[in-house]
Parts: sequence; C-alpha cells; structure tokens
Amino acid sequence: MENDSRAKIISAYEELAESYNALIDHKPHNAYYDRPSTLALIPEVKGKAILDAACGPGKYAEILLGQGAHVTGFDISPKMVEIARKRNQGAGTFFVHDLATPFDQLADNSFDIVLCALALHYIPDWTLTIQEFHRVLKPEGYLILSLEHPFHDYTYFQSTKYFEVEPVKCTWNGFGKPVEVHSFRRPLMGYISPLTENGFYLDALVEPKPVPEFEKLDPKHFQELNQFPSFMGIRAIRKK
Ligand SMILES: C[S@@+](CC[C@H](N)C(=O)[O-])C[C@H]1O[C@@H](n2cnc3c(N)ncnc32)[C@H](O)[C@@H]1O
Repeated sequence: MENDSRAKIISAYEELAESYNALIDHKPHNAYYDRPSTLALIPEVKGKAILDAACGPGKYAEILLGQGAHVTGFDISPKMVEIARKRNQGAGTFFVHDLATPFDQLADNSFDIVLCALALHYIPDWTLTIQEFHRVLKPEGYLILSLEHPFHDYTYFQSTKYFEVEPVKCTWNGFGKPVEVHSFRRPLMGYISPLTENGFYLDALVEPKPVPEFEKLDPKHFQELNQFPSFMGIRAIRKK
C-alpha cells in the first residue's frame, strides 16, 4: 500500500481507538446493522479456528470466543490490538499486522473461517490480501466480508469515475473530536473479481437492513438504511 495512505489510516485509528472501543458495543451502525447481518453469514463456530483480519477492538472476537471458537486477530493499529487483548482478557491471540502484506506468521490451510469486517476499503489493491485469505483457509473454508456498499460510496463521495479505484476521505464526527478517515472506493466488479479470480466462489451476498434496536438510537439513519444500503456482506467459499 502507498506509504502515505497507510500512515494516514494508522494515525486515524490510533486516534479513534479508545472512543471506538467505548462505543462499539452499541454504536448503531456496528451493533445493529453490520454485526447482525455479518454474524448471520458465519456458520457454526464452536471449535473452529477463525482469523479476524482487521479485528479493531476485538468485539467480533469477543462474540466468537464466547461461542467456543479459537480466534486469532490482527490489526494495523497497535492501540486497537492492545484494546482487543484487554477486551478478551487473555483469550484469543492478537498481533499487529497490515492486511496489504503477506501473513507470513500464519500457516497454510490453518483456518476454518476468515472474517474481515469493514476494513477492505482501506486497501487499494485486494489481490494479495485475497490470495493470503485463500492460502490460510482450509479447502472449502469460509471467507466472510462486510464491506462498504459500492453504490453507497459512489453517491456518498460524489464520484464521477465509477470504474476506477479512487482515494476518498471523509470526517467522522461520532467519536468525540472530528477525525479525517481516508479509504478507497471501487466499482462492484472490484469487489467480486478479486474473489472469483483467486480461488473463491460466491456463496451469499447480502444488502442488510438495520435491526429494530437501531431505530430507538438513530431514527433518521434507520429510515435511510431501510431505503438504501450503506454496507454489503459476502460469504465466499475457498475452492478445494
Ligand atoms: C471500521 S474498523 C472495523 C473493526 C472490526 N473489524 C469491527 O468491525 O469491529 C476498521 C479497522 O481496520 C483496521 N485497518 C485499516 N487498515 C488496515 C490494514 N491495512 N491492515 C490491518 N488493519 C487495518 C483499522 O485499524 C480498524 O481497526
């Protein structure tokens, strides 16, 4: 990944980490929109080895560990990794790592499930990352992705270059002080081709709707998300 955008993303999440962790249990877009639909894509996890790629503060890991999974997580932000360790009190294994570089410390065919929630939009080229997900997954293992919806991003960032992967930025105001967050938007084909060209087939695609708890906390976005999706979920299966 270009060093400049990588540095900006690390710096944003280092700044966000504490407040992100404090809010993550009930923040409507995470707790009542992303997580219910993403968790519904994950098959039975008891006794399964799960890689939580870009684990953030370890909330998904906490849920999956609670259901009897063995969880390994990594994130590019050292603060997020420290928080994930604290949240999970010694359960699971967490380390600092960049999704855009090879996962050399992880063995081939070692995971039943790879989860990557709300993070792939931080890297411009997904090819190596998807190849690494393929390498560490067992044959017929599941790759579960939650993603920024490509049509949402196209309108939200007022793009005029649908077919390009383009750097975009926005300011997050929901975590105390405003933080500028840089990412990459891409066309729908840019979500699907890296999977189908690197040993996966698509098993499910969801355009989630928020669950009822969302409405009490944020009625405006509840209504908007019932009319147009912000996120998209994919379950892909590693070919044998
Ligand atoms: C929106 S948060 C999602 C966290 C967690 N997956 C969740 O859904 O609760 C995005 C996370 O991706 C991490 N991240 C961004 N770019 C990354 C990269 N290149 N490699 C690893 N982690 C990255 C950030 O540090 C942040 O913790």
